[in-house]
Amino acid sequence: MTRSLTIAVGADHGGAELKNRLAAALLEGGHQVLDFGTDGPASVDYPDFAGTVCHAVIRQEAELGILVCGTGIGMSIAANRFPEIRCGLAHDVTTARLTRAHNDANVLALGARIVGLEVALDILGAFLSTPYEGGRHDRRIEKLSSLTAKAET
Ligand code: RB5
Repeated sequence: MTRSLTIAVGADHGGAELKNRLAAALLEGGHQVLDFGTDGPASVDYPDFAGTVCHAVIRQEAELGILVCGTGIGMSIAANRFPEIRCGLAHDVTTARLTRAHNDANVLALGARIVGLEVALDILGAFLSTPYEGGRHDRRIEKLSSLTAKAET
């Protein structure tokens, strides 16, 4: 895939099986995985797992995060509550590539009810292998960071 990274992964019950498969693929690819669960079908709340994974990224215990729920939407909403997190919800290789290249996404959200295993693996590969382009996107990412401050004034 790419140079060896430490990647935090998490899921709710809707995404646990896919998360487990992606974690295995990451390990096979030579990456370190911090797996914060959940691991099975028992019902849990996606914000809890999004929070744990994002905290690991923010504390720089992991370089990237992967979050999986049924649609990926709840996980992405939760992750993007953190000003330090840019979470991209990807449904295909193109959205995965562009959220790295243009948004410098540090967390990937996936919907296990939306994409199958093969597509999810391709998404993961594109996310990990695509560099951030920088340039004109720097200004836009700086503006993302200033949105929270502006809302408070
Ligand atoms: C859980 O039923 C489901 O709501 C969750 O996995 C996710 O799709 C939320 O966005």
